[in-house]
Amino acid sequence: TFLAPLSENEILGRQLRSIYNIAGFYVISGDADANQSTKDGLAKVTAELLSRVLTDGAIVSVTGGSTMASLSDYLKPAVKDLLFVPARGGLGESNHFQANSIASALGEATGGMHRLLHAPDYLSKSTLESLMHEPDVKEIIQLNQQSDFVIHGIGEPFTMASRRHSPEGEVEILKRNKAVTEAFGFYFDEHGNVVHRIKTVGIQMEDLAQKKQVFAVAGGTSKQEAIETYLKIAPKNTVLITDEAVGEYLMKNR
Ligand code: F6P
Repeated sequence: TFLAPLSENEILGRQLRSIYNIAGFYVISGDADANQSTKDGLAKVTAELLSRVLTDGAIVSVTGGSTMASLSDYLKPAVKDLLFVPARGGLGESNHFQANSIASALGEATGGMHRLLHAPDYLSKSTLESLMHEPDVKEIIQLNQQSDFVIHGIGEPFTMASRRHSPEGEVEILKRNKAVTEAFGFYFDEHGNVVHRIKTVGIQMEDLAQKKQVFAVAGGTSKQEAIETYLKIAPKNTVLITDEAVGEYLMKNR
């Protein structure tokens, strides 16, 4: 799908899009760490881009986080029967930032539907395997495989581990393996290798490439390296919505 550029920082966005060879690159003015209005701007532009491609009955997988949390303030009921699905189960986020809450708010904002995934934050391998056979959970897994679009955040790994109250052993693994970025509960090193993943059900990285469009939404000085690294592994159908703090850093480091 071709997405026409939005006017703000259009040239920077176009340049970065061709450097990173992804489907779209949008750069909002400012620094999301410093200004709430920039952070809201990320959600606003994402809602605008999403509205251009959504069609009746589309299934949208969503992750959690504070950037994603304000998306429902901007998405309007323009098309019918949208279904929002949490991309992954409990990642240790507080209620407001959970994918479940965001899927439900988006369903409400658009007059569409949502599903909830009830999975505990920390699961053993055997519990995870049996949970995957539960009908409700199975449905979410299937919906995430079938979904047309994905909208997700990107984070700085140690910020995320602390926000999630991750056990000390997990933080040690991240330190030892020099994690630099996180998305979907997967932690990656600077080469884009998965160094740790939170065991839960939901979307897998390999599901992303077949989606019509994947919207990655993240900005702020503290995420510069995280976003730079994520771009090494982002599938080609990714549309990145970021801010100048990140856009200019990427341009300087190219
Ligand atoms: O925990 C869900 C999640 O989408 C993470 O994968 C991501 O790193 C983080 O939230 C982003 O959160 P925020 O937008 O608050 O920085």
